[in-house]
Amino acid sequence: MAVNRGKIPATMPSEFTAKGLLWTSLLAASPLLKAEAPPANYLSEQPAQTQHAMVVSIHHLAADAGVEILRQGGNAVDAAVATGFALAVVHPAAGNIGGGGFMLIRLHNGKSTFIDYREKAPLAATANMYLDAKGNVIPDASTIGYKAIGVPGSVAGMAYAEKKYGRLDLKRVMQPALRLARDGFVLSTEEAAELHEQDLARFPESRRIFQRDGNYYQPGEFMRQPELARTLERIADNPDSFYHGDLARDVARAVRSGGGILTERDLATYEVKEREPVTGTYKGYTVISAPPPSSGGVALIEALNILEGYNLSRLGDRAPAEMHLIVEAYRRAYMDRADYLGDPDFASLPVDQLIDKKYATAWRTGIEVDQATPSSTLRRPAGFLPPPPKEEKTPDHVNTTHYSVVDAEGNAASVTTTLNNSFGSAATAEGLGFLLNDEMDDFAAKQGVPNLYGLIQGPANAIAPGKRPLSSMTPTIVLKDGKLSMVLGSPGGGRIITTVANIFLSVAEEGLNIQQAVDAPRFHHQYLPDVLDLEPGFSAATTAGLQALGYSLDTTEQSWSDGECIFVNPHTGFLEGGQDHRHTYGKAAGY
Ligand code: GLY
Repeated sequence: MAVNRGKIPATMPSEFTAKGLLWTSLLAASPLLKAEAPPANYLSEQPAQTQHAMVVSIHHLAADAGVEILRQGGNAVDAAVATGFALAVVHPAAGNIGGGGFMLIRLHNGKSTFIDYREKAPLAATANMYLDAKGNVIPDASTIGYKAIGVPGSVAGMAYAEKKYGRLDLKRVMQPALRLARDGFVLSTEEAAELHEQDLARFPESRRIFQRDGNYYQPGEFMRQPELARTLERIADNPDSFYHGDLARDVARAVRSGGGILTERDLATYEVKEREPVTGTYKGYTVISAPPPSSGGVALIEALNILEGYNLSRLGDRAPAEMHLIVEAYRRAYMDRADYLGDPDFASLPVDQLIDKKYATAWRTGIEVDQATPSSTLRRPAGFLPPPPKEEKTPDHVNTTHYSVVDAEGNAASVTTTLNNSFGSAATAEGLGFLLNDEMDDFAAKQGVPNLYGLIQGPANAIAPGKRPLSSMTPTIVLKDGKLSMVLGSPGGGRIITTVANIFLSVAEEGLNIQQAVDAPRFHHQYLPDVLDLEPGFSAATTAGLQALGYSLDTTEQSWSDGECIFVNPHTGFLEGGQDHRHTYGKAAGY
């Protein structure tokens, strides 16, 4: 494809491209297939470009919603809030008003801030609430149904961001979402397939709304959500009613009638937290990212600090020697993530020590250039950190969504939001039309129990009333020579951090454009299990090279994560969109 330099491209959702058609035929063969492998020809791709402003999202209508608001004079935060509410309508698997998220903002005047609207454990939550009388984890209790629900923060967070940092008002920026809910939108092949999610069928309200009681939506059909439209109208009129008014009463009643523990008091005591982002540096770049209760920014910066001591680009993009060093950095950062991170409002966390360059140097001296370090033999350098608390293990899940925004003044918003699992708890708030999260599963349910992905976390992440569960969400903004350079982020559970690191390194070290970087095959290691996950796309020579270095490879997964990113081209000043082609209905939109 030719470079669109100097010209505004048509940014069509990829459903309408040749690749989308290929996807359509794949789905016909396998209706529940969720995403295809990374594009084999990613090195020939070019990013969409816009001159002034851009929104990149997994859903084309959500990206358009943000651009509509930008064109009305909104800034990046107005657009981010518009996109967030639109995602709650058009992307029910992860977009939400029944979940939580993080919004990282960098204003053109250089100020950065982080808005934490992560869910909280209800006040009646207890450390052992997902264990049976024998102390065993009750299957599905923390992932499916009303008991899995944390106090939703999305409405409070988006209203807070709009009021403090937006230029328009909430009612106005919610108009695209209201319209999409009331008038409906056309489902693509992939979206229609996603609505077949089996867990939705376990809850009559979810089955009725998202699966029409078994008369499943077909590709090309309109999906209208009148109950959700009414709820959005109530929020637009008075967002505080979700926490203190009649809407709070209705939400609490819906959860209680399904057997959950969330009360009106939980909603009334929910608070958005505005936090200082974590900041690191990497070879002339400044990396601004998510602080606890996310592990994302700390682990990302720690891994990059370790890698800063190598000349990665000399080793070759995705060559075994380069991948080896990157994986060893991931291994060490994930070990620390496991032991030290949780809700900063409940324990003092050694963030400064973890992202200290001297600590990274000490880690680096233990990395052998020609041999993988088995995780079982990994020992933390002495003298930098307190002894870790005793080990606990916890589940981690993968459905979340990220979007990136830059406005014409250079303000940027990097937003990752989640219901946790795909479609959250699968339970819909009756009469209100929206899905509720299962974020309680991001806590450690029981010490010593292996999780779905083998991610290990410490007692800092045990369940406690009013506490926020540890997240991996990594909304990130990167500066080069002090100027806005990248807006990055992804869903993917524990793989979010390595996804963001892979994308950043592909640009910073390998010179890939942002579309290539987003689509390039990913690799992931999280310390335990001691396995290197590879997406399709690595050559036989590469996998053999990695095995020779001592890695156990897992190549069974088709794909993961969904990078939705922006790069500011320093030569042209144009914004370049990296819209993940693993999915078919996204868009890099702008003007
Ligand atoms: N629920 C996914 C995360 O917060 O990392």
